[in-house]
Amino acid sequence: VVTALLSYSAQPAPEAYRAPAGVAPAPIPGGPVGRLMDRYRCLSCHQIGDKGGDISTAPLAFEGSKVKREWLVDYLVLSYSLRPILTERMPIFRMPREEAVQLADAIESLYVDPRVPEDPFAGHPPSDGDPGEGERLYVTLGCRSCHIIGSSGGYYGPPLSNTSARLKPGWTFAWLKGPQRFRQDVRCPDYGLNDRDALRLTAYLNTLHEAPAGKGGGR
Ligand code: HEC
Ligand code: HEC
Repeated sequence: VVTALLSYSAQPAPEAYRAPAGVAPAPIPGGPVGRLMDRYRCLSCHQIGDKGGDISTAPLAFEGSKVKREWLVDYLVLSYSLRPILTERMPIFRMPREEAVQLADAIESLYVDPRVPEDPFAGHPPSDGDPGEGERLYVTLGCRSCHIIGSSGGYYGPPLSNTSARLKPGWTFAWLKGPQRFRQDVRCPDYGLNDRDALRLTAYLNTLHEAPAGKGGGR
């Protein structure tokens, strides 16, 4: 079953068949990965496509296009608070790394979103994307009223201090081009950015890095 599902995910559904914003078509795997998802009850809190609960605000249907595999493995082994505003927490499973790898591999291959580009920098080094101008945009557009970088900023959105370890640049770019395409009700403003400015912001955020597990406040 998993093999069948894997081949399914490689082929993005035609536009007309795609679900509305935030609800990508997303298969629930069977086999060993499906058993892990049952055992850890992922679907009791996470929405995947039209299935699952919504205790977590993070639907998993496009998680594979969003977070980096290495980050995901570490997070499944030892989660930490991503969104300070949430009272709900991702359980700390302390699952064997091997299980986390299996789950992460499945998520990375099954839950991809065709709207998210593989490499928004089109083969150029991200530093060519003008991170300096991106930082200036970050300040002038008021992103910091909701997002923390280092030790300053607001708590309404998730901290962005660890963006380079956590988020795929394609996700950051696609998100900035229209957050509500992914989550209809999300309060990250759609600034109507052109590709160039979205890429500059992506290049800037992609320079940010902090120590693992949310420790330390630096970049
Ligand atoms: C008891 C509820 C619960 C269960 C069970 C649960 N999660 Fe979560 N999960 C959450 C919450 C709440 C968050 C958001 C945490 C935050 O933002 O700090 C989250 C966050 C995540 C994230 C990060 C999402 C992001 O922001 O990109 C991933 C990935 C994830 N969970 C995967 C899983 C997987 C895989 C399973 C099953 C092995 C699972 N979760 C089981 C509640 C749960
Ligand atoms: C009014 C508050 C607000 C402002 C202003 C804001 N954001 Fe957001 N942002 C959010 C919220 C809320 C989310 C949703 C996060 C979630 O729960 O997944 C978000 C998500 C994001 C994400 C995706 C993070 C992830 O984990 O998937 C990025 C990247 C981002 N914002 C960048 C920016 C940038 C760059 C700006 C300025 C151009 C900005 N935001 C302005 C509230 C805001």
